[in-house]
Amino acid sequence: MSEHELSYDHQPRAQWKSHIGFILAAIGSAVGLGNIWRFSYLCYKNGGGAFLVPYIIALVVVGIPLMTLELGVGHKMRGSSPLSFARINRKWEWCGWWAVICAMFGIMLYYSVVIAWCLNYVFFSFSLAWGEDPNGFFFGEYLKLSDGPFNLGSISIPILGALLAVWFLCWVVVYYGVEKGVERANKIFMPLLLVLILVLVGWSVNLEGAAKGIAVYLTPDFSLLSQPHIWIDAFSQIFFTLSLAFGIMIVYASYLPRKANLAKDAVIIAIGNSLFSLVAGFAVFGTLGYMATIKGVEVSEVVKESIGLAFVAYPQAISLMPNFAEVFGVIFFVSLVIAGLSSGVSLVEAFSSAMIDKYGFQRKTVVTFTCVIGFLGSLVFATQGGLFWLDIVDHFITHYELVIIGLLECLVIGWVLKAEVLRQYMDDVSSTNLPKIWDFCVKIMVPVVLVVLLVNDLKTEFAEPYEGYPVSALVFLGVGWPLVGLIASIIISKAPWVRESPDYEI
Ligand code: PHE
Repeated sequence: MSEHELSYDHQPRAQWKSHIGFILAAIGSAVGLGNIWRFSYLCYKNGGGAFLVPYIIALVVVGIPLMTLELGVGHKMRGSSPLSFARINRKWEWCGWWAVICAMFGIMLYYSVVIAWCLNYVFFSFSLAWGEDPNGFFFGEYLKLSDGPFNLGSISIPILGALLAVWFLCWVVVYYGVEKGVERANKIFMPLLLVLILVLVGWSVNLEGAAKGIAVYLTPDFSLLSQPHIWIDAFSQIFFTLSLAFGIMIVYASYLPRKANLAKDAVIIAIGNSLFSLVAGFAVFGTLGYMATIKGVEVSEVVKESIGLAFVAYPQAISLMPNFAEVFGVIFFVSLVIAGLSSGVSLVEAFSSAMIDKYGFQRKTVVTFTCVIGFLGSLVFATQGGLFWLDIVDHFITHYELVIIGLLECLVIGWVLKAEVLRQYMDDVSSTNLPKIWDFCVKIMVPVVLVVLLVNDLKTEFAEPYEGYPVSALVFLGVGWPLVGLIASIIISKAPWVRESPDYEI
């Protein structure tokens, strides 16, 4: 065993009990709230089936190469994202921190709140509590939305209770470690989620008018492919949906045994995740087709973006179900909770493992501390102004911070560690060989694509303030949030590693 396989206290690094356990955990991270509503909505908005063209191109050109890169570097360096970067070169350790800090204190703080809403909605489904007006119910009665991001107001008790439950569940899973916590939870979560989604799909496609909705979801309109925003949507969706650039796949791969078919695993995870999205779309659009038929309107009139779709359009459709509406509602929101939790767990794990690697703290202490701070931090998104904060932070992190971290990853790993070296390593530990073109993808193609993406995004950003928010709020939250993360990353990366000593390099 090489010294890199030892953790700080010279214990062997934790390992997945089974290969399938690893695959399920990685798919569990990738399949999240975004797969259920975001993918279907993007398909609909961007030319139906035609959107699959840029989507699949993005998957092949950026998604799979980057997934392979993250798995490869985590496996070779046997560490969380900061440790892996530090082992490439101490100068770049901060990149690894930025990824996990962005995961934990960027995404997870608001992601946990959305899971909490889903949890509340599981209970609302029992009585179809949203009544005749799901829109008024969600924004008014439930969120009690304030008039803007600078007016936070108070925190409502149901959201607080659900949020506590969400953090508690994440805490329990990560507390018990890789094998007994993350692996075991995903072995329950993922098959359960698949069954629930298949039930929903079977149910939805048999509703009256479902075919009309599905036709809207998938009818290709290839003429739209000439518009650049469709390509931007496809590439950013691939990033977010595969949980790339958060250091998650890096740490998950670090728990694999020495022999591993990393490129094959990357393909399985990526395709598994996309298939899940595609299938879930049938449930979403089948139901919307039914609702449109019952209300005698066009399907396009009932389709809403993201949050509106899950918490407004869908509840309305549930209320209109001919039989067992409550059961349908419960299944839908339980699916969202499970999909969200398995992603949430991976976000907490990515940060916690980094702290364990760096400071040698006990897992249980780190995870408890992280979840308490995480819970407190997420409270701001649970206030009456929280939705505005969520919207702004999410927009800037997913459009810019993520893409920049992805770019840094490619450049540092492609050019400093060298793609050829990593590819050689992956070939050595696996039974198949990675094609040489992968080097070109990582060193040149993906960075170029990401820069084009960034430039185009920035152009629209400067054209008008995002969603008409005050510029001060956009700068404070959108720019300030990632910047604080970056500064924290640089500061932490300057501190020594606990096991570092004159005769032991990390
Ligand atoms: N991939 C998840 C989704 O599609 C979101 C996520 C992003 C989860 C980053 C973990 C890390 O919803």
